[in-house]
Amino acid sequence: MGSNGAVVSPVRDRTPLSQTQLDFPGQPYSVCVLKVGYCQSESNGTFKADGTITLITGPKTILVDTGGPWDRDFLQMKLQEKGLVPGDIDVVVGTHGHSDHIGNLSLFPGAVMIVGFDMNEGDTYCPNGLAEGQPYSVDEHVCVLPTPGHTGQDVSVQVKGTSVGTVLVAGDLFECCSDEDSWQNLSLNPAVQKVSRRQALETADVIIPGHGLPFRVIRDC
Ligand SMILES: [Fe+2]
Repeated sequence: MGSNGAVVSPVRDRTPLSQTQLDFPGQPYSVCVLKVGYCQSESNGTFKADGTITLITGPKTILVDTGGPWDRDFLQMKLQEKGLVPGDIDVVVGTHGHSDHIGNLSLFPGAVMIVGFDMNEGDTYCPNGLAEGQPYSVDEHVCVLPTPGHTGQDVSVQVKGTSVGTVLVAGDLFECCSDEDSWQNLSLNPAVQKVSRRQALETADVIIPGHGLPFRVIRDC
């Protein structure tokens, strides 16, 4: 049963990866989950949540989501463990404008910033085609894809050529591996998000969701 009492249909096209599989090495880009997001209901009707934080390293260093403002010290520590300081990040992507995903943008004033469909370098905002459905290629291996629905302006980051194939860092396009009973309640536009989710499941081998462990996509052929 789901939290709303509905029967949860089994998810046949996905399988969770283990708690420890947070690193996806690749050539030329590797993907590492720095923090696994979560979302837990509390007995008083509130819920605790934080967004997944993901680092992509290769020819460029890319951070996808920054966690909530309370993650500031944690994020700097995790970057330090990777031998990085905030100034080393070339591109910061905020998958959407919720506070548990973009709480630490101010650590990266020198990075190219893509937050939803906005792209800026410092106070210079750059025209782009995300709002018209056009991907933005960082290079031939990494691409920012418009994947709206959870909000009006969600993006995901597609990384090709990892050891597990194509990885999609998806923000809240997917809450977690088994979110069939929850994602629609959190969606601004479920019909639009349904299309974005289907496209993701058709093209990604591993999806890193906004509030849970990475999962593998199972395709019939
Ligand atoms: Fe969100």
